Amino acid sequence: MHKLTQKGVFKGLNLENIDFYLLDTVDSTNNFAKEKPLNKDYVVVISEQQTAGRGRQGKKWYSPSAGNIYMTIKFIDSNPAPLSLVIGLLISEAMDKISGQKINAGLKWPNDLLINKKKICGILIESEVNGDAVEFIVGIGINYLLPKKESWWGEIGELADILPREKLINSILQSIIHYSENGYMDWRDEWEKRCMHMGIELEAVSNNQKNIEIGIFNGINEEGKMLLQTRNELKVISSGECSIKGIY
Ligand code: BTN
Repeated sequence: MHKLTQKGVFKGLNLENIDFYLLDTVDSTNNFAKEKPLNKDYVVVISEQQTAGRGRQGKKWYSPSAGNIYMTIKFIDSNPAPLSLVIGLLISEAMDKISGQKINAGLKWPNDLLINKKKICGILIESEVNGDAVEFIVGIGINYLLPKKESWWGEIGELADILPREKLINSILQSIIHYSENGYMDWRDEWEKRCMHMGIELEAVSNNQKNIEIGIFNGINEEGKMLLQTRNELKVISSGECSIKGIY
């Protein structure tokens, strides 16, 4: 496994604006980033391994040292678009950009990325209020190789030649920083184009798993909320996850 290098990961980035940490091991890059004050515009934490990687809804994120991506970027976001959806979109675009191909990493609401119907990337966004500012802690996990895995987890190891890990990290950082500084006008259209379940029947599951709504996914609104056409009405679903038959 080729270990990540500062030169490769931060190529072309203005390091005067970034407090960066390239680690061998850490409990969770999100935890580490939370502890660091935002003295510059961005804190970036990348580790080869996590001993207590965290997923959404209190789940664990399996994080062996196997050439995967575990990274967190912390910053203040003043854009109106919902960060949680935009980040997934930027990662899907970055994969196309560096490979020069249509990788077709599909977006599953709110922010999973799938290839061949398997989850290859998860995003955990947390926030903290610091005085008047809200600091976002954006954690990204992308799997190249998982020595053991659940049936719905995928890997992109076979694409490593066209999606080298350092290049992908670099491209994702470039585009998140570009987004934070310039915004993204058509994010909603572009998100829907890359969504893998437009017009498909699915279950919207609330965070506590207690509420389940079944309907046809009808896209998202300006706030990134799910528009779900149920038997009786068009519902706006603001949080939770979705579950698709035969996928997860
Ligand atoms: C999910 O449940 O889909 C979100 C997974 C997020 C995992 C990443 S890996 C880097 C960062 N640090 C963590 O502890 N979690 C996120």
